[in-house]
Amino acid sequence: MFDFVDGAAGNEVTARRNNQDFGKLVLRPRALTDVSTIDLRTTVLGHPVGVPILGAPTGLTGLVHPLGEVGIAAGVQRSGGVYVLSAMASCTIEEVAQAAPGPTWLQVYLWRDRGLVRELIGRARAAGFLALVLTVDVPRAGPRYRDVRNGFGIPPRVTLASLLGGLRRPGWSAGFVRRPRMTIGNAADRGGGPSDPVSLTRYIDEQFDPSLSWKDLQWLRELWDGPLAVKGILRSEDAERAVQIGADAVIVSNHGGRQLDHVASAISALPGVVDAVGAGAEVYLDGGVRRGTDVAKAVALGARACLVGRPLVYGLGAAGEAGAQRAMQILIDELRLTLTLLGCRRAADLDGDWVASVGPESHPSPAARDGAPGL
Ligand SMILES: Cc1cc2nc3c(=O)[nH]c(=O)nc-3n(C[C@H](O)[C@H](O)[C@H](O)COP(=O)(O)O)c2cc1C
Repeated sequence: MFDFVDGAAGNEVTARRNNQDFGKLVLRPRALTDVSTIDLRTTVLGHPVGVPILGAPTGLTGLVHPLGEVGIAAGVQRSGGVYVLSAMASCTIEEVAQAAPGPTWLQVYLWRDRGLVRELIGRARAAGFLALVLTVDVPRAGPRYRDVRNGFGIPPRVTLASLLGGLRRPGWSAGFVRRPRMTIGNAADRGGGPSDPVSLTRYIDEQFDPSLSWKDLQWLRELWDGPLAVKGILRSEDAERAVQIGADAVIVSNHGGRQLDHVASAISALPGVVDAVGAGAEVYLDGGVRRGTDVAKAVALGARACLVGRPLVYGLGAAGEAGAQRAMQILIDELRLTLTLLGCRRAADLDGDWVASVGPESHPSPAARDGAPGL
């Protein structure tokens, strides 16, 4: 289970880059600015939030804790953020809406069966979800070799290795054995149920539509009249096209390095997309955020907010809803302290002047000068 969450595609080069590239940016503190109060508030797709951090969509979260996505959603919402529920979640849309009724977006993939996509969107609308996210970087499953090595599937099989691993974590394993959530809650009848176990790769390759194209974004735009975001964009021209079609937000993301390995880190792709989109849409950063300083850098480079994936899943696995909330709170506390030490009173005031690329040329900020940090 840990490998399913922690792992990424290929040699996991991009997954590492997502995090390491934050280290190529320096923060530029301002002195003597009175930081006795710090304001982290912003708006995301028109909705006021307490912090510029969203819970990223993660499928099959019930594998790490019986509460599944409900635990992360509640933890994130309680901390003042928005949760993005994956269509591949263990919990259903209705379960999450009932148990964690705070602000939630729904993320969808394009199943070959468009009827299922239409149904999910109708259910999200009925549940009062605020926005829809289309993830565009999974025409097929990425090569996640840890999962291949472990024989990972839905529902998971018990192997000698997983049994031995489970014995070393008896508390966690007791929850795992008792849990009912080992399949995709919203699409339980599409395979991957107890009577029809499949590898995640086979599920994705059989169920998702690799012909996914701009026409499908157009189709979704017509189907959903609320705010729409496109997740999995790395090129500025793709961002521009998404906005032309009517997307209200672009999420710069390489799926946490879980799809194509050796692509650019999300943070290095961010400035180009921000430049291209201008004021036409909001831009979000997704991937590699592990510290409050990472959030501050992304917001300074033009992200409206950051999405955080694995850290919240680790928190949930360690201590349920309280663990997910704790992971979120650590990031928030670090972000508040970062702004304090930076001399920036409001997260909304962060811009390219507060960050630069590492090196002797870091004054004045290249980001402020030409909109690119030159990673
Ligand atoms: C266990 C796991 C499951 C994921 N499932 C989905 C999913 O169903 N839909 C999606 O758009 N992204 C999915 N992602 C990608 C995340 O939304 C996000 O892009 C990524 O985790 C961000 O990187 P980070 O983990 O470094 O924060 C998943 C990621 C993980 C770790």
